[in-house]
Amino acid sequence: MTRETWATRVGFILAAVGSAVGLGNIWRFPWVTAENGGSAFFAMYLGIVFLVGVPGLLAMFVVGRRAKRNPVGALQRLSGSDRWGLAGGFLVLSSLVLISFYSVVGGWILRYLGESLLGVVTGRTPYFANPGASFSAASVGVDAVAFHLVFLALTAFVVVAGIRRGIEVATKWMMPAIFALLVGLAAWASTQSGAAEAYAFYLRFDTSVIRENFFGLLGPAAGQALFTLSLGVGTMITYASYLDEDRSLPFDGASVAVLNTVVGVLAGLVVFPLLFSLGIEPGETGTGAGALFVGLAGAFAQLPAGALVATAFFAVVALAALSSAISILEISVSFLVDEYDLPRRRAAAAVGGLVAVTGSVCALNAGVFGFVAGTLVDILLTIGLAVCLVFVGWVMGRDALVEFRKGAGPVGRAVATPWLFAVGVLLPTFLVFTLLTTFNVDAEIGFWPTVAAAVAVAAAAFAGLRGERSLV
Ligand code: PHE
Ligand code: NA
Repeated sequence: MTRETWATRVGFILAAVGSAVGLGNIWRFPWVTAENGGSAFFAMYLGIVFLVGVPGLLAMFVVGRRAKRNPVGALQRLSGSDRWGLAGGFLVLSSLVLISFYSVVGGWILRYLGESLLGVVTGRTPYFANPGASFSAASVGVDAVAFHLVFLALTAFVVVAGIRRGIEVATKWMMPAIFALLVGLAAWASTQSGAAEAYAFYLRFDTSVIRENFFGLLGPAAGQALFTLSLGVGTMITYASYLDEDRSLPFDGASVAVLNTVVGVLAGLVVFPLLFSLGIEPGETGTGAGALFVGLAGAFAQLPAGALVATAFFAVVALAALSSAISILEISVSFLVDEYDLPRRRAAAAVGGLVAVTGSVCALNAGVFGFVAGTLVDILLTIGLAVCLVFVGWVMGRDALVEFRKGAGPVGRAVATPWLFAVGVLLPTFLVFTLLTTFNVDAEIGFWPTVAAAVAVAAAAFAGLRGERSLV
């Protein structure tokens, strides 16, 4: 069976943007930004997106297009070693952890969308707008399991149809729809009373936040940057494995990062004016889920035409979540298809069945959910990306340069060598450092010892690789 490829030039970019744009932009980004002091944090996050995220994204593209395999097969074939296949297995496992909680949140969104729609049609007040309706009561339990299963089924439905007829077709209309709806919502939000205050909050560039708490912000900023660009679980390797040779990888990578950032900023332009209009301080509505599900959803109901606006808003979130979930499910499906010759339908059924169970555990237990959605995913993504970067820099080496330059313009070709240096040395060191600050190591032992520890871990990893095929 010949391996499918994207049918059109924009097909790959839109699918990759569809993966990147997700709950991370609309649900996580505004509240993480607000919680960490607004625009100064945003600047830091943006720096990491372009200095770490884009080179990282390109590393994933290089692996995928070179190998034309799922993450396990890709790392195994390119290195000729089963040990690297195991590293690919780590990515696939991480993707299953990720989809388990992601699909639960996707389910809540479907429920909120349905409630809003019913509100428009019947005039009934959505349940989440009732005074006293609390997020946790609505989010954990049998209802959450049911909606999780619906969301998962929708995701699998698209994946089963394959690359061209499923993922490409779906994302080609989903992405413009998300964009158009968000622009409309932002325009509407600009007419709300809190708009001026919200823009001031966005633009108030308070660098003291960064100076006072640089290392406290590093973990959240890096975590958000990796999560939002879908790095660290092998999604981008998988999508790039369906690429033809003639695409410019640097161009595609930069496009994905820019479009993803635009959607994040647009989401902020919708969310913040609403919150300020209702006198809710961003960051005050609690962390994570709470900010969107209680603060914002409750807020909609108080507005004139609230149900209509809520419908548009949750439609955006649902489409964004679905296109991301598709990209996460595709990882393990492509693994089963490539390595075990399963038909797509059976592969999707196998993975879907497993995630139906693991997701339900998240849906039924708030503790498990919080741990998975918070700490665990940040850590898995950071480790996964670091491992891939080391692979590209030290195992692929020159092959990576060749692949990077293929189809690239003059600018892309010129940055190839510095890119490989960043990927092999700077970025993994940065990621290890971030991981250490996440575990609060810096608070215990101080800044320079943490830097030294990061360099030591990175050096040990490099030393361990010296026997591998090709060094830079
Ligand atoms: N980028 C997605 C978001 O922002 C999440 C995601 C992470 C998707 C990793 C795929 C892989 O919501
Ligand atoms: Na994103």
